Amino acid sequence: MRHIKVNRYENFSQTAAELMMNQVEKKPNSTLGLATGSTPKGMYQELVKRSADLSQAVTFNLDEYVGISSDHPQSYRSFMEENLFQHIRVGETLIPDGEAADLAAECERYEQLINQHGGIDLQVLGLGHNGHIGFNEPGTPFSSRTHVVDLAETTRKANARFFNSLNEVPKKAITMGIETIMEADQIILLVYGEDKQQAVNRLLQGDVNEQFPASILHEHPNVTLVSGGVKVLN
Ligand code: GLP
Repeated sequence: MRHIKVNRYENFSQTAAELMMNQVEKKPNSTLGLATGSTPKGMYQELVKRSADLSQAVTFNLDEYVGISSDHPQSYRSFMEENLFQHIRVGETLIPDGEAADLAAECERYEQLINQHGGIDLQVLGLGHNGHIGFNEPGTPFSSRTHVVDLAETTRKANARFFNSLNEVPKKAITMGIETIMEADQIILLVYGEDKQQAVNRLLQGDVNEQFPASILHEHPNVTLVSGGVKVLN
């Protein structure tokens, strides 16, 4: 795992945006795996500032809540539209459909779409406090594909800041599986802020364990960890 350490959020976001821009310059019709959350917001702002041209790219988001509509202000579709898609030129933008009547079929469809596009060239990931990637909570098999998950209470609490109350936070989501994520050619893991200190240091200890999903990234040949605003082990 390569590790780029920066201090300020601005540098962090610029570094992440440059990695994305490099990929798209190298291959304009890239398949990009995108993440939501507070961490990548600055990277998206940078891409907008730089007028990134993703018109030939296809994007796949990692996850989506189940049980809220795609136009709900807190859906990941809304997040992506507001933070990126509305502001740049972008090709097809795919996000799991959390409103699908048959959720298992939706997971299967999403997997097929990824395959039809030749797999993901570059996957952006954030890190949950409990080591989750996408919404793959601790204990998720490393062999998992796109699936429906019950969100951990700690994850619902962490995300409650975006909703009016904890009650409103969905209890389920669709997420790409860990194996799905691991099949990406290249992965950028973005970790910013003191509250992620424990999680990132646990990752850097190197123990690969399903109780800490992000630890599997040590077995991927092309991962870049970009960390900022956090004291790290090495
Ligand atoms: C969320 C998302 C993840 C995200 C993570 C960290 O629940 N499902 O994709 O990476 O938790 O979020 P944040 O960047 O807001 O800390």
